Amino acid sequence: MERMTDLHPNLESIGWLVGSWWGFGVGGYPTIDGFRFEQEVTFSHDGRPFLAYESKTWLVDDDTNRIRPSGRESGFWRATDQGLEVVLSHPTGIVEVYVGEVAFSKIELATDVIARTQTAKEVTALKRLYGRVEGDLAYAIDMAAVGQPLQSHLSARLQPA
Ligand code: HEM
Repeated sequence: MERMTDLHPNLESIGWLVGSWWGFGVGGYPTIDGFRFEQEVTFSHDGRPFLAYESKTWLVDDDTNRIRPSGRESGFWRATDQGLEVVLSHPTGIVEVYVGEVAFSKIELATDVIARTQTAKEVTALKRLYGRVEGDLAYAIDMAAVGQPLQSHLSARLQPA
């Protein structure tokens, strides 16, 4: 049983992420219309020094009814002796490689490398800030893409599911 396995000591500072989270967020970018989304996130572990991460989102209307599936991402948050490393992949043909910093209940990630398939949109940099806020998981993602400088694309506040 995964839940019974002890957390690897390297994961101590980010162990609070383990579990499932659910809630709503908002998104936008200069080149697109603003939107609201619903999100489910799961962090799990098997005793080794990484968290497995999975996220699903749906665009929602003003009454929070689902309109359609939107961004998905999955990957691994690796707690190494030299700090946090994160790899995430997207169905849009993008792979993000992050270097992270953990300070108390705040986690900052900045892209080291972004790889894209031939047909993927041009995304050149991302920054993510995750924080524990009154027991919730709050985050903000900034993105440089399609010729625009680094700026907000998404933010959300998720509660334990
Ligand atoms: C996971 C939550 C996310 C949601 C809900 C989301 C939602 C959206 C939506 C609704 C659009 C407008 C076009 C469309 O409907 O496809 C869009 C555009 C876009 N998103 Fe996201 N997104 C997410 C994450 C990301 C991430 C992590 C990246 C970068 C790796 C990204 C990169 C882009 C790009 C490049 C565009 C196109 C901008 C343009 O062509 O002008 N998105 N996103």
